[in-house]
Amino acid sequence: MKNQEDKFKKVISHAKEYGYVFQSSEIYDGLSAVYDYAQNGVELKKNIREYWWKAMVQMHENIVGLDAAIFMHPTTWKASGHVDAFNDPLIDNKDSKKRYRADVLIEDYAEKINLKAQKEIKKAAKRFGESFNKDEFISTNPRVVKYFSKRDEVLSRMGRSLENEDLADIKNLIEELEIACPVSGSRNWTDVKQFNLMFGTKIGASAETAMDLYLRPETAQGIFVNFANVQKTGRMKIPFGIAQTGKAFRNEIVARQFIFRMREFEQMEMQFFVRPGEELKWYEHWKEERLKWHLSLGLGKDNYRFHDHDKLAHYANAAADIEFNFPFGFKELEGIHSRTDFDLKAHEEHSGKKLQFFDHELNKSYVPYVVETSIGLDRMFLAVFATSLQNEVLEDGSERIVLKLPSVLAPTKAAILPLIKKDGLPEIARKIINELKFDFNVSYDEKDAIGRRYRRQDAVGTPFCITVDHDTKNDNTVTIRHRDTMQQERVKISELKNIISNNVSIGNWLQKM
Ligand code: GAP
Repeated sequence: MKNQEDKFKKVISHAKEYGYVFQSSEIYDGLSAVYDYAQNGVELKKNIREYWWKAMVQMHENIVGLDAAIFMHPTTWKASGHVDAFNDPLIDNKDSKKRYRADVLIEDYAEKINLKAQKEIKKAAKRFGESFNKDEFISTNPRVVKYFSKRDEVLSRMGRSLENEDLADIKNLIEELEIACPVSGSRNWTDVKQFNLMFGTKIGASAETAMDLYLRPETAQGIFVNFANVQKTGRMKIPFGIAQTGKAFRNEIVARQFIFRMREFEQMEMQFFVRPGEELKWYEHWKEERLKWHLSLGLGKDNYRFHDHDKLAHYANAAADIEFNFPFGFKELEGIHSRTDFDLKAHEEHSGKKLQFFDHELNKSYVPYVVETSIGLDRMFLAVFATSLQNEVLEDGSERIVLKLPSVLAPTKAAILPLIKKDGLPEIARKIINELKFDFNVSYDEKDAIGRRYRRQDAVGTPFCITVDHDTKNDNTVTIRHRDTMQQERVKISELKNIISNNVSIGNWLQKM
């Protein structure tokens, strides 16, 4: 636990020190759970967004993009159910006066039991070596069986109570499990209450004529209300998808954990419209596809796991999270939801407009069913950034801090470094920059000894350092140093563009899917 906390603190301070993430309005002591992306952060974020967009839109003939406004007609949120049901169950500790999400307290408790079981499994795997049969051990070891059944029992009771809106039982469960406030250590809890997460605002010049609006809590509704427009103008045939990236806003109560849970954040969502009855097939398809996308970035297979929902949102008939191993443990990174025809039907009812598709093969009209993939861009940023930040002990015993970002996502692809600041070397370096900058983000650095400059680029995550030295003047060659292996090779200046391009091109990375 302590290790995790230390690692997370390092991630946050590195993000600030190297120009990735700043707290919003820091000179005024910041605004809680709101963050700004700095000079490198904005590039990393843009590259993740582009990597997602290309994988979803460019690679699929039957998926198109959309950029709907953040402001939407207020009836949208009545129809979608967000006005009535977009609530979190909250509980306060009377001694610390801290507020918690009741479901998160219970989920954290269940995760602790889960970790105990995992520890037993790891120990046994070590003890039995190659002959270890994990499935058999899980189903027969009394301690592991007990841990897993306790975990499942707790989660399913919570799911049932939330679904039945039985908030008294959620409080009972917290008391029965003897969950204590992490700050005061006491079990002196208030009742559990529901709290709506949407931010309200107003549109219009005068108080009398102003209309109450909400800042959208998800981008998905912009897609649903445009379903018929896109389908007709794009002559789309089912199955087809509409993808969108953009800001969403939630008045999160427990807004900790840096950019993991923010009040203003960005989503990358795709709604896939299918024939009724085929939604679960497509749900499985998109679960698999999305996991492949994640794995293509090489952050490690073991860092991902699926978590099927015990408590389904008001619109879903199946839902799973892709969880990622963040510095504070496995948490939701992306949601895959089978949303049925809930949203389109609700918008039909509230707007009085038909939101249907005429299926020529079936010779009938229907309201399509929807499978959604929804990932938080900021969470993806955190997953990539935290996993890439590594402290390496080198062969000579020295240490280096290196940000091993997937090169396709790195903000700057290459730093061009003249060995010394004279003898015409800076001029050659500038010339190389002027050739490469049409294709890549590149930077120039001439300050300090070359070793220190390499370390600086390692820490900021630049995959290549290109050093111009005196030999360059004679033979037009430079040294190219690879960030991850620290290996150096001598190459011709004319080869640089190809070498970098092969390594960072989105196409090459996406082919790994
Ligand atoms: N349209 C469905 C939807 O919004 P969600 O599970 O509430 O579903 C989808 O959100 C994704 O958005 C989450 O998996 C997460 O990555 C991201 N997300 C949600 N709330 C967030 C927050 N407060 N801060 C950062 N990311 C958030």
